[in-house]
Amino acid sequence: MTEVNVIHINSPFLDQKPGTSGLRKSTLKFQEQHYLEVFIEAILLSLENIQGSTLVVGGDGRYGNIEAIEKIVQICVAHEVGKVIVPKDGLLSTPATSNLIRKENAVGGIILSASHNPGGIDGDFGVKLNIANGGPAPEIITNQIFKSTQSLTSYKISKIKLPDFSQYGSFNYGETTLEIIDGLKDYSALMEKIFDFDQISDFLKKDFSLIFDAMNAVTGPYAKNIFVEKMGLSNDCVMNGDPLKDFGGLHPDPNLTYAAHLADLLLNKKSYSFGAACDGDGDRNMILGRGCFVNPSDSLAVITANTTCVPGYKEGISGVARSMPTSSAVDIVASALNIPCFETPTGWKFFGNLLDSNLITICGEESFGTGSNHVREKDGLWAVLYWLQILAEKNCSVSDLIKNHWRQFGRNYYSRHDYEAIPSNIANQIFDKLSSMLPTLIGTNFAGNLVKDADNFSYLDPVDNSISENQGLRVILEDNSRVILRLSGTGTKGATLRLYFEKFINPKQNLSLNPQIALKPLIDDIDNLLNISKLTKMETPTVIT
Ligand code: G1P
Ligand code: ZN
Repeated sequence: MTEVNVIHINSPFLDQKPGTSGLRKSTLKFQEQHYLEVFIEAILLSLENIQGSTLVVGGDGRYGNIEAIEKIVQICVAHEVGKVIVPKDGLLSTPATSNLIRKENAVGGIILSASHNPGGIDGDFGVKLNIANGGPAPEIITNQIFKSTQSLTSYKISKIKLPDFSQYGSFNYGETTLEIIDGLKDYSALMEKIFDFDQISDFLKKDFSLIFDAMNAVTGPYAKNIFVEKMGLSNDCVMNGDPLKDFGGLHPDPNLTYAAHLADLLLNKKSYSFGAACDGDGDRNMILGRGCFVNPSDSLAVITANTTCVPGYKEGISGVARSMPTSSAVDIVASALNIPCFETPTGWKFFGNLLDSNLITICGEESFGTGSNHVREKDGLWAVLYWLQILAEKNCSVSDLIKNHWRQFGRNYYSRHDYEAIPSNIANQIFDKLSSMLPTLIGTNFAGNLVKDADNFSYLDPVDNSISENQGLRVILEDNSRVILRLSGTGTKGATLRLYFEKFINPKQNLSLNPQIALKPLIDDIDNLLNISKLTKMETPTVIT
């Protein structure tokens, strides 16, 4: 028998509901006594039949990763979880976790990550729960977890001594087996099943240079395994490839602002044919070509238009989905392919039911997230391999591929402006102002066009008929141009205001404008209407994508 300690605590414990991406707080908050433990206790209580079942536990390697895994294993032992699967060194990307949960028929997985937020003692930490289908826990479960954290007065833990997580092995503690496994193998095998590694490797060894930026986070070992060990490329095709606790001071968000060095290599120095980066936990991706940035909304459209290039999707796809703020570029492709296209709220969890019911095969978000039914998370390296496979098959450059796409389908000029870490009262003031104005905007002139529709997006899930309201304010013009305003649910400091702009141009018009120019009338008019730059005291947004 292993000894079980019951630790008494003062409730309520959590001050805030876990958001779309689980519980995300400063690293220091998670270091507070009992903080992580109570949340884990609440997670285990939310899962049915946890006794004797299998749970996957891993993280993106940020500060506190191993210590958190140790505590989670100890709590699992106290709850008599049958098997806890932990990757070597505690490193498991979010998509690899999703895959492992599905492969091992686990009840779920606990992912230790604050995704693309900075790490280290001064950064952020986070805990996400994924359920048996491999996808993020739906709201009904996260609400239940939050409720438990409000009433829990104790948690159970077995303070057993644990092995070093840098070695493989199987260990028994009472009713629980701890398995320390290879976190790369199953994921790489899945990629090898979907893509033709030989074709990609031959292409990359010819005259097409690749640089992958792992941003000192979890995808480094995966990228080395795939590109170096399996495809035989040289080691230096992976930069920032060793996961570091503080990501080497980088903000591991693959966009033009935070992956500025990579962007400079591709866009200014033009040193490589192809560049890509992934975020802290490996679910986001940014694709760059020589002198060419691929907007994530366009990436989703290109991926959808080229399924015949990729062995895993040669049989065809059932449908696609995009989050509401993502541009409509993919809708145009779906209509040409005669497949359904769903518009969901922001957050990967809304794709879960559609994927599980085979209503869609491919889905994506403007926030550098693309994926398919191979797992139930967005998948950064999958997107990178997908792009490489299309380019290898077509033997062309990124820029040619995207330009040909626009010539065929037209171009959805698109940009997202983020005002990060602004005072919450200012963000709310701006949001409330637009919200209260919505009905009066219809029929008025905006950016030289008439407003066709203005609403707060709500979603009816076609599978379980659940309704999700208040998913973002939309102003839609007669030519289908859109301005969308949302408040971020993932920031940890103040509030983050996101503005999204979209304008469609048909193939006969000018396809090569700078998006900021093409979208200027929309950008200017929303600022005139809401006084954003004045109220935020920011002349330009923190991040422009
Ligand atoms: C952001 C993105 C959203 C994504 C989420 C988790 O959420 O906008 O698309 O699903 O991160 O990666 P937000 O901060 O906007 O709520
Ligand atoms: Zn992420």
